[in-house]
Amino acid sequence: MSDVVDWDLLVARAEAARGNAHAPYSGFSVGSALWVGDGQVFAGCNVENAAFPSAQCAEASAIGVMISAVGAVPIRAVVVATRGDTLTWPCGNCRQKLAEFAAPDALVMAVTETRRSPPRRLTDLLPAAFVDFEAQPR
Ligand code: THU
Repeated sequence: MSDVVDWDLLVARAEAARGNAHAPYSGFSVGSALWVGDGQVFAGCNVENAAFPSAQCAEASAIGVMISAVGAVPIRAVVVATRGDTLTWPCGNCRQKLAEFAAPDALVMAVTETRRSPPRRLTDLLPAAFVDFEAQPR
């Protein structure tokens, strides 16, 4: 059923994107893939720059692909794929970026070439995310 997260597909798409990472400065290639339901997957890689702070994380690239393709739809599952053995979770900035579009129960899985984590809730990785200040009293 297309509404059930296809983790194998999501991992494959994240790893394929990781293969295109532009990471000559850190040597740390990252791929990410987003599941939004109906079998739709959007993937991206990290894109570094000679001006180091201008680097873009893989999750941000994937979000850009999603927004460009279908606009703001709820993200239900995320994979972050790195190389080697050590699992890598989204950086703090990317947790906030994902939270902007995440479904309330969105799951995140970290994978390497040798391991897959159990899925974790984005809300566990980023409790008390900053939310739209327009909705708050000022
Ligand atoms: N990076 C990501 O792509 N995602 C993260 O969540 C953390 C870090 C990238 C940024 C940079 O290109 C490299 O990993 C090293 O920090």
